[in-house]
Amino acid sequence: MSQTRFKVAVLAGDGIGPEVMAEAHKVLNAVEARFGLTFERTDALVGGAAIDAVGQPLPPQTLSICQQSDAILFGSVGGPKWTGLAPDQQPERGSLLPLRKTFDLFCNLRPGQIYPAFADLSPLHPRVSSQGMDVLCVRELTGGIYFGEKGRGEDSAFDTQTYSKAEISRIARVAFEAAQKRSHKVTSIDKANVLQTSILWREVVTEVAKDFPDVALEHMYIDNAAMQLIRSPQQFDVLLCDNLFGDILSDELAAIAGSMGLLPSASLNGSGFGLYEPAGGSAPDIAGKGIANPIAQILSAALMLRYSFGLEEAAKAIEQAVQQCLQQGIVTRDIQPDSSYGTADVGSAIANAIAGA
Ligand code: NAI
Ligand code: MG
Repeated sequence: MSQTRFKVAVLAGDGIGPEVMAEAHKVLNAVEARFGLTFERTDALVGGAAIDAVGQPLPPQTLSICQQSDAILFGSVGGPKWTGLAPDQQPERGSLLPLRKTFDLFCNLRPGQIYPAFADLSPLHPRVSSQGMDVLCVRELTGGIYFGEKGRGEDSAFDTQTYSKAEISRIARVAFEAAQKRSHKVTSIDKANVLQTSILWREVVTEVAKDFPDVALEHMYIDNAAMQLIRSPQQFDVLLCDNLFGDILSDELAAIAGSMGLLPSASLNGSGFGLYEPAGGSAPDIAGKGIANPIAQILSAALMLRYSFGLEEAAKAIEQAVQQCLQQGIVTRDIQPDSSYGTADVGSAIANAIAGA
């Protein structure tokens, strides 16, 4: 019999985090009822909320709850209240970076989609957005220039980028496996005309591709990719990127898709454990008003069911319920400025759609 009980560490965090997390709970409750599953959820402090309560952004108690769970559902952290703190003590750096390192979350997945009914949200409307977009960005998250040796002198500074064959091949495998479940194409991003790490990247990706004969591989320079993505995003299926290039292209993807409030993300290690969070931040400008879009958080929960729990059918049910609400116009103001629906209305509508009500 397949597993029906899963432990989830819930780290709602700051700003709109707790508001949108409440809606993810509604949706998970509906999934439990419909599919006969149990998501045993434990709340834990993180970010600014944790700093205020116990003086540090990632308390040991929170880390231990995460370690005892099958996945982490993360809201968002940060806000103007904590920007004066030392960099390592700030909500974002002090919690997300150590979580990524502790759990070896080397793989970041960010889907970017243009929903046909809301193609006008895209800044590329109408010429490009009317043709739709469905891209998955697979970004290496624990290596490369963000983690290399760095230093600062009086008149100069340096950062270094190192990648090993093992680091490249494990992220490449994730990209090819994802492409097998999608449109069977991987575009690998590099700057192999300039960078040594990119030359190695290209070699290793080409080698890994031999194990996936049903997936087409193309290589593209980062500068060209940045351009092609706004020209015709329809040409892409899976984008495979190192840490730096993936950081940039995934934000470009989010901008093309339209609203930050719609986009989920997954950060995974090699053994099925993952951290799932909206692509956006804590949105202090709209926090506490009940108008934040809960869809990115809800779709993050769907990714958790898919990638950490192997519950594909339940994940699809959430995604279909989201589509249904979008089509019915049950959306927050970031999508439709004159909308009278709030965070809780959208969450309830999605939960009801899952329940079949
Ligand atoms: P942000 O993503 O929080 O907000 C950017 C804009 O998008 C704002 O106008 C906001 O209202 C809107 N927005 C974002 N999510 C939304 C949603 N669900 N519904 C409706 N509108 C939404 O980025 P910003 O303003 O750069 O950062 C705010 C705080 O969040 C900062 O303290 C930053 O450090 C933190 N942050 C945290 C992240 C995380 O927890 N992973 C990621 C990015 C930023
Ligand atoms: Mg970024």
